[in-house]
Amino acid sequence: MSNLTLIRDFARQKLGADKSGHAFDHLERVARTAKYLAQKEGADLFQVQAAAYLHDVIDEKIVANSKEALIEVRDFLRGLDLEATIVDDLLYTIDNMSFAKTLTDQEVKLSLSGQIVQDADWLDAIGAIGITRAIYYGGRHGETIYDPKQPPRENLSYEDYRNLADETIINHFYEKLLKIKDQLNTSAAKDIATHRQNVMLDFLDEFKAEWRAER
Ligand code: ADP
Ligand code: NI
Repeated sequence: MSNLTLIRDFARQKLGADKSGHAFDHLERVARTAKYLAQKEGADLFQVQAAAYLHDVIDEKIVANSKEALIEVRDFLRGLDLEATIVDDLLYTIDNMSFAKTLTDQEVKLSLSGQIVQDADWLDAIGAIGITRAIYYGGRHGETIYDPKQPPRENLSYEDYRNLADETIINHFYEKLLKIKDQLNTSAAKDIATHRQNVMLDFLDEFKAEWRAER
């Protein structure tokens, strides 16, 4: 079996049962988008797909202890026939690429493959798929759909982001999803985001018009 197949199987086994929006279908889409972006940007196809499959395996929303999960991934990767520099970059990428990390003061510089996987992950949070995932996530976490009296929070902090007891699904678009477009790293990803942003803006416009009984 190829290294990529082994990594894919490892990730599937780790996340297979997760239904919080990080299910295996998310990993497959991120790997597919990352491969497309890597072809456009001239990055290594194995490295971006491997990182795509592994990127959520250490997420604190999925595993009890993300430090231990990272060590488990490290030991797994060291057991494969891979150069140490490649393993190190994969581990650095998955440990530092999350949206939540961008809200901390920590200065993070991802490699080109890391930037591509981050872009692919973020692209999966916007557009039609992003709308679906936000509603799915919000429903599972008991969020209110919308409350016109509750304005979106400006400049979300790391603590705010992790403490979403009072979040509404529609506010999640203003606090996170609509901001993603301007945070993407590569121009190939920005090209895709332009269309997906309009899909979300149209959706929000229609949603509010229907809410006010205007349409
Ligand atoms: P990251 O791994 O970059 O920290 P998350 O794990 O927070 O991203 O988000 C995973 C998916 O769940 C995304 O599609 C995101 O938009 C959605 N999501 C996260 N938090 C919320 C929320 N409070 N309400 C609705 N959707 C959410
Ligand atoms: Ni992800």
